[in-house]
Amino acid sequence: ESGQVFDTNAMTLTRFVLQEQRKFKHATGDLSQLLNCIQTAIKAIASAVRKAGIAKLHGIAGDINVQGEEVKKLDVLANELFINMLKSSYTTCLMVSEENENIIEVEVERQGKYVVCFDPLDGSSNIDCLVSIGSIFSIYRRQTSEGAPTLDDSLQPGNKIVAAGYALYGSATAVVLSLGAGVNGFTYDPAIGEFILTDPNMSVPEKGKIYSINEGYASDWDAGVYNYIAAKKDPAKGKPYGARYVGSMVADVHRTIKYGGIFIYPATKSAPSGKLRLMYECNPMAFLMTQAGGLASDGRIDILDIVPKKIHERSPIFLGSKKDVEEALSYVQAKQ
Ligand code: AHM
Ligand code: MG
Repeated sequence: ESGQVFDTNAMTLTRFVLQEQRKFKHATGDLSQLLNCIQTAIKAIASAVRKAGIAKLHGIAGDINVQGEEVKKLDVLANELFINMLKSSYTTCLMVSEENENIIEVEVERQGKYVVCFDPLDGSSNIDCLVSIGSIFSIYRRQTSEGAPTLDDSLQPGNKIVAAGYALYGSATAVVLSLGAGVNGFTYDPAIGEFILTDPNMSVPEKGKIYSINEGYASDWDAGVYNYIAAKKDPAKGKPYGARYVGSMVADVHRTIKYGGIFIYPATKSAPSGKLRLMYECNPMAFLMTQAGGLASDGRIDILDIVPKKIHERSPIFLGSKKDVEEALSYVQAKQ
């Protein structure tokens, strides 16, 4: 074949969502509209993360822009984008954001039936050094059908998720999405400003060769976690695993879905529930990993079965290839 071929029939994210929604007879189009608005937020965040327009924002003197205002921090900007895009989608009544202490209610005239939980820019320690970061979201239907949405509408377990996904601002920008029927991956094509389906039907390898955990806290782990990681490094117990830890959950989870292996953020002595937040970090990732054929547990039960009591509660997490998570759980659940 010679010459450049131009795909005149590419599967974009928007088109994919429309097509999937067509499969449901009673779909109103609201979920497609909601996902389109999230997509817009993600495009704008990606552009800010890639520092597009930086010359206009930064005065010669540094972090003060032409209006003399301090340049908005990326995480604040990302949060505002998510909130504004979701409000203007007319499909959402309630939001939970990592950046907001309380639930965010949408004004009555713009309310719809969905509840969205999100971490607009995860991996805060990696923002300033330009290492990969991401956005994470999950979408639920509100539980009550009438009246003002309540806190209970947001406190739903992960097994009630309608759709979840993340955006990874890595060496390329990717969106990984599940509407509850498998996982699909899209890569951003800046030439046309669209996400293109590049990873259809993603499935995590049954077993991997990588463990991913912050090993600096090893002295603070339970014996089970300690013994499992020790085993993964012990040639007497099989070929040692490689260690990879970006410190951005989205990047570590994306690698785990693509290459297999295990990602762990365990409980520690100083943080008995771990660090990661159930509603907008653990749950959406657990939903995606499960949809991709992997597992996600808090050490005792499936992440998706935890009923949240507080919007910002935390959970330990063991997530990844089925065989690897099962092996880790056999150590964690062993009587010491
Ligand atoms: P953040 O919400 O402040 O960005 O923290 C969440 C991040 C995750 O992306 C990552 O998995 C974890 O914190 C890393 O934590 P640690 O530095 O303790 O290993
Ligand atoms: Mg976070």
